[in-house]
Amino acid sequence: MSTTLITNLSEIFTADATQTVIKDAAILIDGEKIVWIGEAAEAPEADETIDAGHRAALPGWVDSHTHLVFAGDRSQEFVARMAGQDYAAGGIAVTTAATRAASDYDLTRLLLGRAAEALAGGTTYLETKTGYGLGVEEEARHARIASTVVDQVTFLGAHLVPADMDAQDYTDLVCGEMLERVRPYVQFADVFCERGAFSEAQSRQVLTASRDAGLGLRVHGNQLGPGPGVQLAVEFGAASVDHVNYLDEADVTALAGSWKNWDAGSRSGTAGTVATCLPACDLSTRQPLAPGRELLDAGVQIALASNCNPGTSYTSSMAFCVATAVLQMHLGIEEAIVAATYGGALALGVQDLVGSLEVGKRADIQLLNAPSVAHLAYRPGMNLTGPVFRAGTLAAG
Ligand code: NIG
Repeated sequence: MSTTLITNLSEIFTADATQTVIKDAAILIDGEKIVWIGEAAEAPEADETIDAGHRAALPGWVDSHTHLVFAGDRSQEFVARMAGQDYAAGGIAVTTAATRAASDYDLTRLLLGRAAEALAGGTTYLETKTGYGLGVEEEARHARIASTVVDQVTFLGAHLVPADMDAQDYTDLVCGEMLERVRPYVQFADVFCERGAFSEAQSRQVLTASRDAGLGLRVHGNQLGPGPGVQLAVEFGAASVDHVNYLDEADVTALAGSWKNWDAGSRSGTAGTVATCLPACDLSTRQPLAPGRELLDAGVQIALASNCNPGTSYTSSMAFCVATAVLQMHLGIEEAIVAATYGGALALGVQDLVGSLEVGKRADIQLLNAPSVAHLAYRPGMNLTGPVFRAGTLAAG
C-alpha cells in the first residue's frame, strides 16, 4: 500500500472522544485508512506529500437522514408555505406521483447528481430513505436504485398512506410483502409516527415487523406536534429518532435513559437512541428548532443531518446545518461538528468506521478553504469546502 501525507494543515479538528484540535498539523494515510495524526513537524516520511495550503481539516460529514430518491419539484408548495400555509405532509403524495412516473435511468441520474452535490459539500458517508414509492413495486425499485448509489438505505414505506388505500390495509402491506421485497437492499426501517401519517399502533406494527426481519430501526417522531414517536423509538431500541421538535420532559428523560450504559468519555458501552436534529427542515417548515442544546445537556447523543428532500428541506448542505445549530440552537462549533460527523455515524451504527479522524478509521477527510473550523459558523452561507478525501482517495474539490 502506498502512503500519503497531507501536511501544512492550519488545524485538525478530529471529532474524537477528546475533541482534539491539533495546530500546524498533518495526517498520514495508508490506502483507505488513517495511520498517523499529529504536528506536521513530527510527521513521518510518506510516498506522496500533499501541501494543504494552510487549510483546516475535519472529518467528512456523515449525513444520516435524507430522502434523495425522488423526481419532481415542489417549489410552489414552498412559496405557499412562506406565505403562511402550514406544512401538513400532504405534498409527499405530489412527489410520489412524479417519482413513480420516472424511469430507472432518470431516477438513478437524479440520485447520482444529488450524491455528487453532497460529496462536493464534504459529505463522505450518505444515507437515504425510500418513501416516495408507497407501493410494493415502487418501494422495491427505489430501494434497489438507492443501494447502487449511497452507503446506507432506510426503508420508509410507512411514510404516508396512499390516498386510494385504507390505512390498516396499507400498514399490513408495508409489514408483509413490501418489507420482504425491499429487504435485500436496506439496512434500516423507519416509520413516520405523526398525526396524519401513522398512528402509535400502526408504528408499533411497522417497528415490530422490521425488527423481526432483522433490520435496524428509526422513527420520524415529534416533528409536527407532541406525540408518541420518541417514546416508541426508545422502547424499541431504535438507533435514532429524527426531527424531535416537540419534546416534553418525559421524552428527554427517556432519551437520556437510553444512554445510561454509554460512556461518552471513552465512547464505549451500549449505544442508545440518537436524537437527530434537522435544522434546515425546521427553518424551511417554520417549526420550532429541535432542542439540541437541551438534549446535549441532558446527556443525549445527538446528530445533525440535512434531511435533503423536495418538500421540507431541499438542501444537502451539512455546513449550513452546522452553522444554524451554532447560531440558533446554541451548540458550540465543536459540538455541532461532532453531531454532524460522529453523531451521524452513531445513528447509522458505523461509528467504528467513520465519523472522526483517528488512527485505524477510514480516511474520510474534508479540507476547508479557511484557517479554522470556526469559520463554518463565523462565515455562514459561504461555500468553504475544499478538497474532500473519501477512503483515502481525493473524491471532490
Ligand atoms: O422528513 N416527515 C416526513 N418526511 C419528510 C418530508 C417529506 C416531504 O414532505 O416530501 C421529512 O421532513
